[in-house]
Amino acid sequence: MRVHVADHPLIAHKLTYLRDKRTDSPTFRRLAEELVTLLAYEATREVRTEPFEIETPVAPTTGIKLSTPKPLVVPILRAGLGMLEGMVRLLPSAEVGFLGMQRNEETLEAITYANRLPDDLKGRQCYVLDPMLATGGTLAMTIRYLVERGADDITAVTLLAAPEGIKHLEEEISDLNVPVQLVTGAVDERLNEHGYIVPGLGDAGDRLYG
Ligand code: PRP
Repeated sequence: MRVHVADHPLIAHKLTYLRDKRTDSPTFRRLAEELVTLLAYEATREVRTEPFEIETPVAPTTGIKLSTPKPLVVPILRAGLGMLEGMVRLLPSAEVGFLGMQRNEETLEAITYANRLPDDLKGRQCYVLDPMLATGGTLAMTIRYLVERGADDITAVTLLAAPEGIKHLEEEISDLNVPVQLVTGAVDERLNEHGYIVPGLGDAGDRLYG
């Protein structure tokens, strides 16, 4: 798995306000959306394209357009929903599929409670959105699920990640034969005993939706 940690002062600046416990929900939602748009720029660097002939007012030329099938964007409910607008702003023609996952706060194991994804993902490039990669269990389960359905290129976009979670995710998906990359706004210090990222930003779902 390739890991790309965004190294940009605007991202660090917005993340600082997102982390601040005094930041209210409306501001948190706006910042999360803005951050995703910045991360999406990096995450889509290898989006598949094909040549496209056009004519400018001066001459014919060859440009590019997104290849078909179009990429699939998968926000993981609930908190990933707060990243959707920011992502589709950059990829307006993408299809969107939804996965509802919840982490049991005692065992820290993820369960799937909702699934609205196309059945056949053969040959699809997928962009998974989830603000937090904590233990990595949620993303590992999601990525395996998408690959089982045929996805052949997966990019996970997170705002924050814990080093332990990245390691765990890498181990959990090491047998998969598809390229997976992680684009994250920052890698924090560690996970605490409750499975929260430290310093982190708290519970992203609660801060987005109360
Ligand atoms: C949080 C977060 C991730 C997951 C990360 O979701 O939004 O989906 O936990 O944890 P992991 O890497 O240890 O699996 P939560 O279960 O709190 O659900 P929510 O988005 O509905 O708040």
